[in-house]
Amino acid sequence: MERIFSGVQPSGVLHIGNYLGAIKNWVNLQNDHQCIFCVVDLHAITVSQDPKELLKKTVEVAKIYLAAGIDPKKSTIFVQSHVKEHAELAWILNTITKIPELERMTQFKDKAKDGKKEASMGLFDYPVLMAADILLYKTVGVPVGEDQVQHIELTRDLAQRFNNKFGEIFTVPKALVRKEGARIMGLDDPIKKMSKSAASQYNYISLTDSPDDVREKIKKAVTDSGKEIVFSQDKPALANLLTIYSLLGGQTIKDIEAKYKDKGYADFKKDLAEVVVEFLEPFQEKYNALDDNEVLEILREGAKKAQVIASQTMSEVKKAVGLIE
Ligand code: TYM
Repeated sequence: MERIFSGVQPSGVLHIGNYLGAIKNWVNLQNDHQCIFCVVDLHAITVSQDPKELLKKTVEVAKIYLAAGIDPKKSTIFVQSHVKEHAELAWILNTITKIPELERMTQFKDKAKDGKKEASMGLFDYPVLMAADILLYKTVGVPVGEDQVQHIELTRDLAQRFNNKFGEIFTVPKALVRKEGARIMGLDDPIKKMSKSAASQYNYISLTDSPDDVREKIKKAVTDSGKEIVFSQDKPALANLLTIYSLLGGQTIKDIEAKYKDKGYADFKKDLAEVVVEFLEPFQEKYNALDDNEVLEILREGAKKAQVIASQTMSEVKKAVGLIE
C-alpha cells in the first residue's frame, strides 16, 4: 500500500478549513493506504506558544483526528516530538537547502511581516522540518490544503537533490490537493484564507464552536452584491459559502443553486448554519466522549510504530552521508 503522511500544528483553533482541506480527505485515504498522521508540535513552537496551552492543544488535535474518523487500527497517529528522527533529519536536510529557497516561501514571508526582525531561525527553517516529516517515511502522497503546496514542492526538490548526491534513498512525494475545499476562505474576508491565527473569531468556524456561535458567525458572514445564489468567481464570498454547504451537506453546488433559485441570502444562510450544526454535533459528541489518557496511549503506541520506520530511514541516511552510527 502507498504511504501517506500529513500533519496539523497544535496552535490556534482548528477550523472547518483544516477539516475540509485536509482531515476529511485523510479519513477516506486510510482504507486503501498506509497512513501516518502527526501532530506537529515542533512546528507549532516556531512561533511563541504558551507551554501549558501547547500541551493541551497537542492532545486536542489528536482528539480531533479521532473524532473526525481517523481509526488508530488503520492509521498511525503520533506526536512529532516523540520521534526524535524528525529533528535529526531536518538538520541533515538543512545542509543541502539553500537560503534563497527558504526566503521565497510565502508562508514565511506572511508570518515574518515585521521586516523579519522578530522571526526565529525555527520559523525560517519550518519547511525543512516539514520536508523531514515527509521524507522520513518515504511518503508517496501528502494530503493537504493549497497553502502547503509550495512546501511540498521544496520537499520534492530536496529529495531529488539528496538522492542525486548520496544515492536513491528518498521517495519523491506528491501533494494530494482536492479541487473542492483546498482553500476555504475567511467568513469575514473572502479574499484571504480561513486562518487559525485570524484576529477576529468571525473569520472562522472552529470545530468546537457551539450551535449558537455557528448561527451567529454565518449570519455575520460577508456576502457579495446581488441577490442570486449562484457560484461564480466574481462572487468570492458566496462561492466560499456554497463550497462549505456542498462539502458538509453532501450536496452538489448545482443542486444547492437550484434549491435557492427563488430564495435570497437570508434563507440560504439560515440553512447553511443548520448544515454546519448538523455536521458539528455528532463530531463534538465523539470528541467529548474521548478520554485523554486513552488518547495519550494511542499517541505513544503510534510513536513506537512511526519510530520503527523513521529510525530505519535515518540509518540509511547516515550511512549515505558518511556519519558513523
Ligand atoms: P496547518 O496546521 O496550518 O493546517 C493543517 C492543514 O489544514 C489545511 N488548511 C486549509 N485547507 C483549506 N482551507 C483553509 N483555509 C486551510 N487552512 C489550513 C492546511 O493546508 C493543512 O493541510 N505545515 C503544515 C503542517 C505540517 C505538515 C507536515 C503537513 C507539518 N509537517 C508534513 C503535511 C506533511 C501546517 O502548518 O498545517
